Amino acid sequence: MAYDVAVLVGSLRKGSFSRAVADNLTALASDTLALRTVEIGELALYNPDLDGDAPPAAWTKFRGEVVGADAVLFVTPEYNRSVPGLLKNALDVGSRPYGKSIWQGKPAAIVSVSPGTLGAFGANHHLRQPLVFLDMPVMQQPEAYVSKVGDLLDKDGKLVSDDTRAFLKGFLAAFATWIGKHK
Ligand SMILES: Cc1cc2nc3c(=O)[nH]c(=O)nc-3n(C[C@H](O)[C@H](O)[C@H](O)COP(=O)(O)O)c2cc1C
Repeated sequence: MAYDVAVLVGSLRKGSFSRAVADNLTALASDTLALRTVEIGELALYNPDLDGDAPPAAWTKFRGEVVGADAVLFVTPEYNRSVPGLLKNALDVGSRPYGKSIWQGKPAAIVSVSPGTLGAFGANHHLRQPLVFLDMPVMQQPEAYVSKVGDLLDKDGKLVSDDTRAFLKGFLAAFATWIGKHK
């Protein structure tokens, strides 16, 4: 049976390159991985005061959509050499209430995306820091820094590069192996 992978995208932008890359990854995944994107745009900024008996409905829905997943794939752009607040907020919401983290022990992988040349390296590596604390085994190799992404997609957001497609397929195959080892 395919591993159930929750995909979190670090951009809300209509026409987001990261979302397009996530959609391509979903289409490229073989029968060992079932990727599904979990929406994080409606999550209120995390505030422990709201996290009592009746937390915001969007938080509860989000936690429920991730907690049963076998693994998590992050596809993110870089904002100011770090992780967009959107994605960090989703990590924070999922990490609480204390002792009930939805992330605990879930294997993870990161694909960082940029129209620039550095492939959102800063976001990719900053994201690894909270994932260590959240006790998520993050795949080390292969790394995925998708640079010059504007050149890799057509007007419908489909990958035009065979090399990139092959690279991402290899990345997904490695992730499936990683999940099998760490789940
Ligand atoms: C607030 C902000 C900060 C940004 N900082 C960076 C950055 O540090 N590095 C980078 O490569 N691109 C940066 N960019 C450009 C983004 O890579 C670009 O807008 C990209 O399209 C965002 O991803 P998306 O297409 O998935 O929305 C920044 C964009 C915004 C809006």
